[in-house]
Amino acid sequence: MADDQFSLFSANEAVSAPASLDYDAIPTSGNVPIPPGTYESLEQLAIHCKDCQRCGLAAERTHVVVSRGSATAPILIIGEGPGQQEDEQGLPFVGKSGQLLEKILASVRFDTSQDVYICNIVKCRPPGNRVPTSDEMAACKGYLLEQVRLVNPKIILLTGATAVKGILGLKDGITKIRGQWFEWEGRLCMPIFHPAYLLRNPSRDKGGPKWLMWQDIQTVRTKLDELLANG
Ligand code: URA
Repeated sequence: MADDQFSLFSANEAVSAPASLDYDAIPTSGNVPIPPGTYESLEQLAIHCKDCQRCGLAAERTHVVVSRGSATAPILIIGEGPGQQEDEQGLPFVGKSGQLLEKILASVRFDTSQDVYICNIVKCRPPGNRVPTSDEMAACKGYLLEQVRLVNPKIILLTGATAVKGILGLKDGITKIRGQWFEWEGRLCMPIFHPAYLLRNPSRDKGGPKWLMWQDIQTVRTKLDELLANG
């Protein structure tokens, strides 16, 4: 993806905290969930995340990676966690996986600056890109639930097994459940392959991972068109 596209999402953009939120009253221990309704806006949430020390991942991060995309997007995409480039830039899915994700979205005319909001199960990079632990996922979950509440998307896409486990609580293999619609908290969700998996399995053969991903994203496009047409 062209670098200039990322100028839309400045990681270090100065946003001032609304006076009404008492940040000191929000639980700082990863064992105490952040209550639903804590934040009035995504800006408040982003400000608070930048100082987060709720789990050990805080110690090694360069940036907290909160989101990119549109705050009013009809589609919310959840990945696993930041990699090295995401940690450096403070934005999710900006490395090779992100470039492929952009291509997949563009293939059905989804525009990242309008149609999608992208975030992760954990907001800080797990060292060496290991899978986040259950405790790290739990410590970060309140932020994610608040992002979902505030964006209020029509569709949630769960990229890969960690996103599926973190949201639906399912440990099924992604190959078995990808492309299926699930209802979660009254919202429509679909597990899809993680783009990193497609990078490791680049064959476009019919029935292969890339071919399946293209089927799934077309299904999502059709569903969104239907939902938008029905108000
Ligand atoms: N992989 C993810 O799951 N998330 C990112 O932000 C980048 C790579």
